[in-house]
Amino acid sequence: MAGAFRIPLFDLNYGKEEEEALLRVLRSRWISQGPETEAFEREFAQFTDSRYAIAVSNGTAALHLSYLLAGIGPGDEVIVPSFTFIATVTPLLWIGAKPVFADIDSLDNLNISRRTVEPLVTERTKAVVFVHFAGFTDGIEELKDFCSGVGCVLIEDASHAHGSRVKGKHAGTFGLLGAFSFFSNKNLAVGEGGMIITGSDEIYRKAKLLRSHGMTRLAWDKIRGGTSDYDVVELGFNYRMNELQAALGRVQLQKLETANRKRRELVRIYREALKDAVLIPFEDYENSANYIFPIILPSGIEREEAALFLHDKGIQTSHHYRPVHLMSLFRKTMGTGEGLLPITEEAGRRELTLPLYPGMREEDVHFVAESLREFIGR
Ligand SMILES: Cc1ncc(COP(=O)(O)O)c(C=O)c1O
Repeated sequence: MAGAFRIPLFDLNYGKEEEEALLRVLRSRWISQGPETEAFEREFAQFTDSRYAIAVSNGTAALHLSYLLAGIGPGDEVIVPSFTFIATVTPLLWIGAKPVFADIDSLDNLNISRRTVEPLVTERTKAVVFVHFAGFTDGIEELKDFCSGVGCVLIEDASHAHGSRVKGKHAGTFGLLGAFSFFSNKNLAVGEGGMIITGSDEIYRKAKLLRSHGMTRLAWDKIRGGTSDYDVVELGFNYRMNELQAALGRVQLQKLETANRKRRELVRIYREALKDAVLIPFEDYENSANYIFPIILPSGIEREEAALFLHDKGIQTSHHYRPVHLMSLFRKTMGTGEGLLPITEEAGRRELTLPLYPGMREEDVHFVAESLREFIGR
């Protein structure tokens, strides 16, 4: 929620269209997975130019299913970033696989890279998970070639990358599977929701089963006619999306390109206004979804003081991310700690996320940039 801040970190890009879509579903009197979800899947597959899209209840479920569908099992090693949201990593623990943390490439490129992944590969490495940090795809092509060369599966956590492309090819289509989150603060937001994309017929068939208890027929199929008998052929979950989420998703998808163009324009202004004051990671913001606007503060600047200074001016900030390997759970269960990933840890200390959302005004961007420059210049 925008809340009490003069300039919040993010704001929903919602209007009348979303209200009407919800009313349409409510009036149809079918609210569980059904025709809206099927339409959203078709439209998302078309948007990303992937053969199949499978809607699920949230991004974490999309990742959990992707890991299972990629054949990751107990004891397998999977190379992951630590500079990510916890949900990239925890589904691996549910499966009994071992996360192996790769450092980010540099303070200019906050993604893992071939350079940081290669030394970690062993004969037990089953897969590599690439997160398009903040929507940036830097390094994905090189990593795809590397994974093919060493026989590892590439999976993309494209939760930040709705509309990110490399030479026209959408994020999530480089690996065997791409997983998306539609959490409230994402470029395409439905509250809770997720999507898996893949080009594989076999994965598509199995994904639909795993999403819904491994059942061969669903409630909506029964409405469509025929027998109501069904079998259970896989150990599945209830990871279904409902019709209200899907209807919101369809409207949000229609708005996505325009909203992303607005984000790009705001990022252009931010970058110009802050270029001598802070380090701005990544360059190719034109092809990025620009989910967030992360900056790296000069060393010696106290991040909490900067955040407090901005807070007092009505500006909400955040940081992405506290590295996963420094979370107590991982320290306790895997023995990870400081010194393991020097670049990730430095970025974890110095990164500050500034407000960014399609409805943000250009003068707000200038105000945020001027306020930050004022703090750094003191
Ligand atoms: C990189 C990343 N991966 C996974 C997730 C998990 O998605 P969800 O919150 O929809 O479960 C998120 C966001 O919340 C995310 O930012």
